[in-house]
Amino acid sequence: MEREIIRKISENEADTINFGLEFAKILTQGDIVILNGDLGAGKTTFVKGLAKGLGVDSHIKSPTFVLIKEYQGSTRLIHVDTYRLDEVDVEEIGLEDYIDGKNIIIIEWNKFNLFNENANYKIDIKYISENKREIIVYKK
Ligand SMILES: Nc1ncnc2c1ncn2[C@@H]1O[C@H](COP(=O)(O)OP(=O)(O)OP(=O)(O)O)[C@@H](O)[C@H]1O
Ligand SMILES: [Mg+2]
Repeated sequence: MEREIIRKISENEADTINFGLEFAKILTQGDIVILNGDLGAGKTTFVKGLAKGLGVDSHIKSPTFVLIKEYQGSTRLIHVDTYRLDEVDVEEIGLEDYIDGKNIIIIEWNKFNLFNENANYKIDIKYISENKREIIVYKK
């Protein structure tokens, strides 16, 4: 069902940003991407590159406190961090409405089935050492 399509080692922050930028090129409208990885693994760093790859100009900040951020690039990019979200929040925010086949949605710390069911890609970012990470991309 899920197959590994990319596995690479990132040697530093810039590498992860570049990888996000490259990965953005294979995305098409409506794609949903789940990003897994421990605290500080580099999920938001990856999203910075991905946003750049989609032509988003604005600065990407972690949505941990705002929960959800919308950006406009070649398509709309929705950046969600579910770390502090619970099921009630998901309904209140109307997260389901963002799944419209057009928005590209990227989720850090996925906690919800809603996204599991709809995701096209899952990415694991694994901490190896201070500047080294392993990044694995799975496609549904
Ligand atoms: N190879 C690397 N790739 C990505 N980040 C790296 C790398 N090496 C060092 N770093 C540092 O690790 C940190 C990653 O932070 P980032 O906010 O992207 O993590 P995160 O996974 O989003 O964490 P959180 O769970 O808090 O949202 C940054 O300070 C970055 O400079
Ligand atoms: Mg983050």
